[in-house]
Amino acid sequence: MALRKLVAGNWKMHGLSSDLGEVRAIAEGSRRYPTVDVALCLPAILIERAARAVPGFAIGAQDVHEAEQGAYTGCTSARQLLDAGASLTIVGHSERREGQYESNSQIKAKAEAALSCGLGVILCVGESLAVRETGRAVSTVEAQLDASLPDGFAEGLSVAYEPIWAIGTGKVPGVDDIAEMHAALRARLEAAYGDAGQSVRILYGGSVKASNAAEIFSVAHVDGALVGGASLKASDFLPIVAAAAAS
Ligand code: 13P
Repeated sequence: MALRKLVAGNWKMHGLSSDLGEVRAIAEGSRRYPTVDVALCLPAILIERAARAVPGFAIGAQDVHEAEQGAYTGCTSARQLLDAGASLTIVGHSERREGQYESNSQIKAKAEAALSCGLGVILCVGESLAVRETGRAVSTVEAQLDASLPDGFAEGLSVAYEPIWAIGTGKVPGVDDIAEMHAALRARLEAAYGDAGQSVRILYGGSVKASNAAEIFSVAHVDGALVGGASLKASDFLPIVAAAAAS
């Protein structure tokens, strides 16, 4: 089943108010590709201003806390993100799994908190280079997905396969490796959610650029992309959206 593609940008800790013009340019440029869903996951501090600047365009967060509210200094709840104008959030990015020591069970709780509030979720999984080199990439990522998938929720959920060694390095797995991983993740989603697992989009992330996007989008079960560096400028990002529209 061919799913409508989602191309989401992850600005990570980049962007100031002076960059809202790029958000506007991306939102306006994306209108030329109505068959593709496009979103930008921004630093929390920019979400409200971006959402006001581009009404109707999907602005997302990069993380969410699992609790509804409470004494969690520095954290942001799903309701706060919605209130600021976000419609989705990333959870479980490897930069948080590694840098903030987030566990699968915490990521699962974050995904459940976001989905139950009505926020879409992009749940990230991916293996390290050491795991890839020992030939255990598929079983490792399958186990990571099984342990971080929200219970009982498929609507609003997307999964992003992001090999850690491909993030920000210019390295991309071969199309056969992407195909093998995405087929394995599709099977795990169907095992978890039954037929509803067929409609969960599986994005690829890691050094996606205009020059490799068409080839990546041609792989079975690649239902979009999560883009870091190449999402910061409309001139880099819109050709990736165009490649999704043409795929
Ligand atoms: P790059 O596209 O910069 O490799 O980043 C990928 C990523 O981590 C998106 O979440």
